[in-house]
Amino acid sequence: MSKVAMELTGVKKSYGDKIVVDGLSFTVAPGECFGLLGPNGAGKSTIARMVLGMISPDAGKITVLGEPVPSRARLARMRVGVVPQFDNLDLEFTARENLLVFGRYFGKSARELEAVIPSLLEFARLESKANARVAELSGGMKRRLTLARALINDPQLLVMDEPTTGLDPHARHLIWERLRILLARGKTIILTTHFMEEAERLCDRLCVLEHGRNIAEGSPHALIDKHIGCHVIEIFGGNPRELSSLIRPYVQHIEMSGETLYCYAPDPEQVRVQLRERAGLRLLQRPPNLEDVFLRLTGREMEK
Ligand SMILES: Nc1ncnc2c1ncn2[C@@H]1O[C@H](COP(=O)(O)OP(=O)(O)O)[C@@H](O)[C@H]1O
Ligand SMILES: [Mg+2]
Repeated sequence: MSKVAMELTGVKKSYGDKIVVDGLSFTVAPGECFGLLGPNGAGKSTIARMVLGMISPDAGKITVLGEPVPSRARLARMRVGVVPQFDNLDLEFTARENLLVFGRYFGKSARELEAVIPSLLEFARLESKANARVAELSGGMKRRLTLARALINDPQLLVMDEPTTGLDPHARHLIWERLRILLARGKTIILTTHFMEEAERLCDRLCVLEHGRNIAEGSPHALIDKHIGCHVIEIFGGNPRELSSLIRPYVQHIEMSGETLYCYAPDPEQVRVQLRERAGLRLLQRPPNLEDVFLRLTGREMEK
């Protein structure tokens, strides 16, 4: 197999005079989980649609599993599974029927499909729902059925657009667990998300998107190390402005978000000493995470 599962080079897309994807380049290695992390409107779904050949870029080059896209997208799509941002299952059909109908698009016979559908439903933890109409399934079950459907052609690459948005924590964990199994089986996954925790847990590498631009790229660990690299103390319960001038000399960087102060402190003890006498303050000291990176790069109220 080629060393590159997907490559984007200088990809641009505008709608009217609005630039939605602004010269994006990245490569994804086979077997990797690559994340596109960004808030609503960052351009994640637009990128996913371009990768699938559903819309064409205005400029740049896209290759998916060795095929140029969009010109040979149909060919590439035979080896790709898709979980779109919004479920588009047929609500009137049963779970099993949805998989059957979808599998026919890949030219598979009903017999071939009947042979694999039970294991796909089992993988999605939906074996007891085979004959339930989709309309009767919960949000998490629908999402897992969409995942099972994406696997019907045994794809090498999965494109998943916000697979857990709108799900409760339990349903989300169940999806994460399934995705990890797929990665262990060697699948390549492109995952869009606005959940920092999801990106941090699942992605080998990711790019942080803001207004269609790649503002940082790397492994979650490397990004955290590079952009934060020290402990974080969250402080709340006091006057953030007053506190920030008090501890400013002892921290590398301070940010304010609402009533919370985020202090990036190489020596957290020094900060704690300053605040020891203050009643009513709550301090939470924790390792840095991807959310800190994101907020640092995109800027919240900068204090220093
Ligand atoms: N078909 C379209 N026509 C006009 N604007 C669009 C269209 N699709 C997306 N956009 C705009 O492009 C921006 C990025 O959208 P999208 O890719 O859906 O972002 P995300 O998936 O990261 O939330 C948004 O501002 C959105 O309004
Ligand atoms: Mg989207």
